[in-house]
Amino acid sequence: MLLDNNPITARAHTNIALVKYWGKKDEKLIIPNNSSISLTLDEFYTETTVNFDDNLHQDIMYLDNKKVDSIKSITNFMNIVRNLSNINKFAKIISYNHVPTSAGLASSASGFAALAAAASKAAGLNLDNKELSKLARRGSGSATRSIYGGFAEWKKGTNDENSYAVSIQNPVKMDINMIAIILDNQPKKISSRKGMKISVNTSPYYDSWEKQTTKDLETVKNAIYNNDFTVLGKTAELNSMRMHSLTLSSDPSYLYLNKDSLLVINHIKALRDKGIECYYTMDAGPNVKIICQSKNIKKIKSELLQSFDEEKIKISKSGEGIKYL
Ligand code: ADP
Ligand code: DP6
Ligand code: CO
Repeated sequence: MLLDNNPITARAHTNIALVKYWGKKDEKLIIPNNSSISLTLDEFYTETTVNFDDNLHQDIMYLDNKKVDSIKSITNFMNIVRNLSNINKFAKIISYNHVPTSAGLASSASGFAALAAAASKAAGLNLDNKELSKLARRGSGSATRSIYGGFAEWKKGTNDENSYAVSIQNPVKMDINMIAIILDNQPKKISSRKGMKISVNTSPYYDSWEKQTTKDLETVKNAIYNNDFTVLGKTAELNSMRMHSLTLSSDPSYLYLNKDSLLVINHIKALRDKGIECYYTMDAGPNVKIICQSKNIKKIKSELLQSFDEEKIKISKSGEGIKYL
């Protein structure tokens, strides 16, 4: 049943992949070449309100109080919700990102997970987590995993029906934190969507990436079950750099890291030389995330303060799944 003028608000947290999704088998349906694993973060999230309204002649969206001009990807997504629910009204969407937008901190993950939850409920649908994950996938692949708290796996599947994420462990048993260093909160020049397409089409190493990522996934999954922080951290770091080497080996070659990203990486290596265990991972953007245990947060932070201001350093623990507010 569609409840008119009944705004629904949902919150979804971002997630950072420990084994990355980088490439699609089906660009329209967003079916990935690889399965991926992530940790949902408590510090970064999106809150989105959706209200279907008889008086609207098109969808309208405000993101962080600014009207969104290029609404096409949102309208395409809302068309899927309209098809599923058999309704023909347009919606007003109001969204707030408590995370930098398009900066490699997974705003598309929290953004489309929150939109999937709020829009489907506002349309009168009562989707379970699997169906929500499938719907979120149509907005952005990484959003499949933000339906869940803790560790989640997006099982690649082969089609619209069997490509969705599942919870691996929530609450998480491991003592794991991610320290994000916000080096640049401006939108990236090459979106994740565009970047991965260039890699799939032109990197001669893409086939190796597919094979290696399948192995990395099993390694990280076992590390989660065995509560083995060292294996998880090492493998996540390697997998992340394997992804970035696809960008470097593409034609045209491109790079998400900047000079400050390298500075953070050097700090992490210095910390490791001092016996402080920590690892790095990076997505499609220059901002580095450090994977560490609680006992080392203080020391890592004081190392980072040598180069970066305190407000740029955000410490996250495992976050929750979708919540209706
Ligand atoms: P990021 O690294 O932040 O995930 P991407 O390049 O993957 O960057 O994705 C950015 C896309 O996500 C943009 O198309 C943007 O419009 C969309 N997006 C960001 N925030 C939201 C939101 N709150 N609701 C819907 N879409 C969003
Ligand atoms: C590097 O999910 O943002 O963060 O599906 O095209 O919207 P689209 O891309 P997106 O890609 C995420 C890439 C990544 C790795 C990951 O989150 O698995
Ligand atoms: Co994204």
